[in-house]
Amino acid sequence: MIRANENYQKLKASYLFSDIARRVDQFQKENPDIRVIRLGIGDVTRALPPAVVTAFHKGVDDMADDATFRGYGPEQGYAFLREKIAAHDYQARGADISADEIFVSDGAKCDTGNFQELFAKDIKIAIPDPVYPVYLDTNVMAGRTGEFVDGRYKDIVYLDCIKENRFLPQLPETPVDLIYLCFPNNPTGTCASKADLTQWVDYARKNHALILFDAAYESFIRDVSLPRSIYEIDGAGEVAVEFRSFSKTAGFTGTRCGFTVVPKECRVFLNNGETVSLHGLWNRRQSTKFNGVSYPVQKAAEAVYTREGQAQIGELTAGYLENADIIGKTMVDLGFDYVGGDNSPYIWVDGQGRDSWDFFDLLLHKAGVVCTPGGGFGRCGSPYIRISAFNSRENVVDAMMRMKEALK
Ligand code: MLT
Repeated sequence: MIRANENYQKLKASYLFSDIARRVDQFQKENPDIRVIRLGIGDVTRALPPAVVTAFHKGVDDMADDATFRGYGPEQGYAFLREKIAAHDYQARGADISADEIFVSDGAKCDTGNFQELFAKDIKIAIPDPVYPVYLDTNVMAGRTGEFVDGRYKDIVYLDCIKENRFLPQLPETPVDLIYLCFPNNPTGTCASKADLTQWVDYARKNHALILFDAAYESFIRDVSLPRSIYEIDGAGEVAVEFRSFSKTAGFTGTRCGFTVVPKECRVFLNNGETVSLHGLWNRRQSTKFNGVSYPVQKAAEAVYTREGQAQIGELTAGYLENADIIGKTMVDLGFDYVGGDNSPYIWVDGQGRDSWDFFDLLLHKAGVVCTPGGGFGRCGSPYIRISAFNSRENVVDAMMRMKEALK
């Protein structure tokens, strides 16, 4: 009989956001008259920007004409998009990244999940706690973790992100090979300064470690002193891979497009002590397992880099940041401590001693508002909930009024 990958048995029964969706569906079935407001999963609600829609339509028209039709595209993405990304997101900010170091994909979830395939099974991994669950779950699936005891997997080096360290991961006490970092952070909404990132880049260079840097929320940064890319830090190109997404930046959660930057100078060790290019490995992986993002979607993403596109996405993200501000002010009125929300669409709220799943249930049942229980992001998240700013202004204002009523 065919045998299963036993590592899957170590996972929680379902993925965090599927679990929440199931609970909310159940609640809605039992309470059909309550209009549930979803501030749980970070899914955008506003339409694609007009410049993106126009380019998307044009891309479809190109596919409708033999003269402009495209079949299989390059697995790494079309040059027209990779060049715009390199010029605008990196070179214009002083980061030495070229178009052929960019791999266009269908989103940061897949790339952050798949990238671990390139590494040996017995590497030591450092993962912040709390954290976006994909990093940990994909390493569990790959067999890099031991048993799950007291809310944690053996063999993982957890980097506690707690009030005492301003929710910023600290350098590990024992040596590690691979480090996951995410800024602006999901779920806490905290940001890392240049000095914070410099210490990680220095650590990685000194210890021959690699950083997987998830920058999916960089377009929410308004503080000009904060780095938007890890490549703004000297030497990062040798030791860091960066993941980006058009999902939250330009409303692509349902359209799917993102990219991963793998600098050519990044190298990893073979058993014989020689090194190999990480760029070459990811290129080999992508060309074998991936056939690229559809042409109209890449045309749509390209429009993000036009003058109108930039203005429109600026307005889109500003709208969500204003929602975050309303949520933050409500938390203050309610007497809750929180972080995030200023350069990030997530607000991380201290539940004042409540367990996060109890707080989730309370808000769902008494206010009809969905949040994300912090415990779903790791043990250190258990006393917190995450509130997402991704919804209409009207719904956010309504949700905050309901929370005030439910918690008074
Ligand atoms: C989240 O809510 O953390 C994100 O929307 C999940 C994702 O981007 O996959």
